[in-house]
Amino acid sequence: MARRKKLYEGKAKILYEGPEPGTLVQYFKDDATAFNSKKKGVVDGKGVLNNRLSEYFMSGLNTIGVPTHFIKRINMREQLIQQVEIIPLEVVVRNIAAGSICERFGIEEGAALPRPIVEFFLKNDELGDPLVSEEHAIAFGWAGQHDLDEMIALALRSNDFLSGVMLAVGIRLVDLKLEIGRVWDGDFQRLVVADEISPDSCRLWDIDSSRKLDKDVFRRDLGNLAEAYTEIARRLGVLPSNITHAVKPHVIN
Ligand code: TMP
Ligand code: ASP
Repeated sequence: MARRKKLYEGKAKILYEGPEPGTLVQYFKDDATAFNSKKKGVVDGKGVLNNRLSEYFMSGLNTIGVPTHFIKRINMREQLIQQVEIIPLEVVVRNIAAGSICERFGIEEGAALPRPIVEFFLKNDELGDPLVSEEHAIAFGWAGQHDLDEMIALALRSNDFLSGVMLAVGIRLVDLKLEIGRVWDGDFQRLVVADEISPDSCRLWDIDSSRKLDKDVFRRDLGNLAEAYTEIARRLGVLPSNITHAVKPHVIN
């Protein structure tokens, strides 16, 4: 079989040319990075788990009418997706204060927010993904006002859906990061949820114990990341049969 053409390699995933025009194959790696790649590691099985979890969340969103790039899972590490033009803004929705909002405003971790707060960050590792306002996004041409309104609507619908799905298995969705892509239909564009939805891009806390079950386990050396992701997959009923035990993450630096 001919080798597929690699189109892009990111920190946690690789994109290959897909079988049909307008499609791509998204491959999930075991690599983990944090703090703009200052911390790097390999977590055995993470790619397999995130492939399943992203499939589960994205197909759920598709079912309730929130459009995503997800078409189908191909194998343990790969899924078929729609090719999109990624908008260079990360959209974060926060339900509970954690991470950068705590540092920025001096809020205590775990404080419930009065309403879900949507933030935009510029996707630029060299600048450390800075927070941007809608004014910045429009003035610098990263997105138009219509795009931003639709991105907020997609993000809030995704947040509501995922909060409910996780609550049903005893886990709180603290925050979530989405990437949004443009799909062209002739002259018309549609926005869809793209990239991945996984514990790499969300904060998930066990309701009973407050145990962190997301990438903060790796960022802050809180234990075994694969074990945390395995627990989420197990509760959601999507644990791949060949993942029977979690392997200790191997931190490179
Ligand atoms: P933050 O609190 O560091 O701003 O992160 C908010 C959410 O976004 C959290 O769930 C982690 C996620 N996130 C990413 O997925 N990629 C990133 O590069 C960063 C900084 C955060
Ligand atoms: N994904 C980013 C990085 O690799 C930051 C993070 O998730 O903490 O550095």
